[in-house]
Amino acid sequence: MKKIVAIIRPNKLGIVKESLDDIGCPGLTVTEVKGRGRQKGITEIYRDRAYQIDLLPKLEINMVARDDKIDEIVEIIAKSARTGEIGDGKIFILPIEDVIRIRTGERGESAL
Ligand SMILES: Nc1ncnc2c1ncn2[C@@H]1O[C@H](COP(=O)(O)OP(=O)(O)OP(=O)(O)O)[C@@H](O)[C@H]1O
Ligand SMILES: [Mg+2]
Repeated sequence: MKKIVAIIRPNKLGIVKESLDDIGCPGLTVTEVKGRGRQKGITEIYRDRAYQIDLLPKLEINMVARDDKIDEIVEIIAKSARTGEIGDGKIFILPIEDVIRIRTGERGESAL
């Protein structure tokens, strides 16, 4: 199993969730976050002065899935979250040791 952490534009959540439903992967956690990438936020000009907006609002999607689903999930998130402009976000992939479904005590892939 792996965990996918995707940082996306907030207005892309709807389409990303829909496309994940379409491939049978509905389970996820969403958190409001602030961040910056290599442009270090954006610079806005106001009355001839440049103001740096340091951290931009993004959403973090957390999903744990079977290894054989990861490529498909990453592909569909990248496709549906993309605008082609800077700041589209990033996807991180991490190994997961185990999962427990609290209600039943099931573990591993059958607890997903
Ligand atoms: N190296 C990183 N580690 C953790 N979070 C990151 C990292 N890079 C980007 N992020 C997160 O992703 C969000 C979007 O990053 P962004 O898409 O601007 O990345 P980028 O590398 O600057 O690419 P681009 O040139 O397309 O803008 C950031 O606001 C931040 O929350
Ligand atoms: Mg950037």
